[in-house]
Amino acid sequence: MEFSVKSGHSEKQRTACIVVGVFEPRRLSAPAEHLDKVTDHYLSNLIRRGDMEGKLGQTLLLHNVPNTLADRVLLVGCGRERDFNDNKYRKVITTAVNTLNETGSMEATCYLTELNVKGRNTHWKLRHATEAAQDTLYRFDSLKSKKDNNTRRPLRKFILSVSSRRELADGEAAVKEGLAIASGTKLAKDLGNLPGNICTPTYLADQARSLADHFDNLKVSVLEEADMEELAMGALLSVSKGSRQPAKLIIMEYEGGKKNAQPVVLVGKGLTFDAGGISIKPSANMDEMKYDMCGAASVFGAVSAAAELALPINLIGVIPSSENLPDGDANKPGDIVTSMSGLTIEILNTDAEGRLILCDALTYCERFNPDVIIDIATLTGACVVALGKHASGLLGNHNPLTHDLLNAGKYTGDRAWEMPLWDEYQDQLNSNFADMANIGGRDAGTITAACFLSQFTKKFHWAHLDIAGVAWKSGKEKGSTGRPVPMLTQYLIDHSAKE
Ligand code: BES
Ligand code: MN
Ligand code: ZN
Repeated sequence: MEFSVKSGHSEKQRTACIVVGVFEPRRLSAPAEHLDKVTDHYLSNLIRRGDMEGKLGQTLLLHNVPNTLADRVLLVGCGRERDFNDNKYRKVITTAVNTLNETGSMEATCYLTELNVKGRNTHWKLRHATEAAQDTLYRFDSLKSKKDNNTRRPLRKFILSVSSRRELADGEAAVKEGLAIASGTKLAKDLGNLPGNICTPTYLADQARSLADHFDNLKVSVLEEADMEELAMGALLSVSKGSRQPAKLIIMEYEGGKKNAQPVVLVGKGLTFDAGGISIKPSANMDEMKYDMCGAASVFGAVSAAAELALPINLIGVIPSSENLPDGDANKPGDIVTSMSGLTIEILNTDAEGRLILCDALTYCERFNPDVIIDIATLTGACVVALGKHASGLLGNHNPLTHDLLNAGKYTGDRAWEMPLWDEYQDQLNSNFADMANIGGRDAGTITAACFLSQFTKKFHWAHLDIAGVAWKSGKEKGSTGRPVPMLTQYLIDHSAKE
């Protein structure tokens, strides 16, 4: 969809639809109030008669409103004014976009961006309206022979209003950010939603190469299994041994910063299908393990957003990618492998494979002399138990970094919650036969998984995002969410402002 920013009175807009908000109970927002005045109280008369209470999500579409140049006016319920917040703002935008898309307005001028959201400025509101609108119109139907979206007159142009001309430039910058994040999120969703038979490690490598074709200062290289053999990546290769698809280690390097500026490194778990291996998973909902590459997908999304915004930073995305399947040549419980770092690992559960491919990728990253390194992984079912579907689990060894990620999460609504990475938990990984085991028992599964990774990240500032809960939705709305692309991109935006 196309976006633009405008300032001006609603009655003067020659547009298919004007969108204004109504609070509960029957209270006009400021832009609605203005429209009411110039239309001889057309809106307040309707509302008094009970046509619209203003409950969150309610809509009322009006035609031929007097003294306006618009074909329609859409009233959108916003709930109680004093409860109006970030989430409700996004919800109201979603409702407006869905309604416009289904009722024939191919373009619209939206005054919801002038609503007060506690603690948020114009930049935030335009940025999030753009993201929410794009998110609302997302469909994944490339593999359906009949497309979902058969709307006859779809919404094509969304004009966002700001209250004064002074805010136009800032608003346009915000829309630009919103579009870059939305397209990174869409990329992550598309990759996540693709099935395991299409989205293989080789497919991901090809996608990385085609992303590099889009941006001059993005280059991609791919390590093959033979290369990884040479680097002695025994942990990563042990996982792919049980699969007929060759593993890949994908490296994307975006050079937007000064030549010698230390890069931010993002490492994404790219298990294109995780059946558990010999420690096989139960078959119910196993299809959802195609989403076990959503960490990788979020790295794609964040790198693409950073490149689109031409952020003045150096950024490296690293994606270890493999399948995890049962096979005569697969890892067996009790097997001991040697990681690239030299640490030996007793594989007590072959389903704890994410940490095995990540640890070698993390060791590999030492060569980049990173400023910080952030890994993103659908790592543990325990994280879903602890935090549900709303927050990513966050653990790390450097307070300023965790702090910055938490803040990026709050700003974008793509939030994380910190868990403790205390020494006391490390003992759960003790092994009688190797330097460490790959599982730490039933207790604190998300923390012991991070403890495992922390053994490979001692040389740098590191944070780990467990996105097992947030990366996709189950049930009727099954699908990838594209999270945490917004959080990561915001982190990069903030980081580049500091440089
Ligand atoms: N990819 C899974 C984690 C997962 C499970 C994500 C369910 C989302 C929903 C990971 O590879 C895994 O299987 N982890 C095991 C670890 C355990 C064996 C210590 C888990 O969480 O059960
Ligand atoms: Mn697993
Ligand atoms: Zn997994």
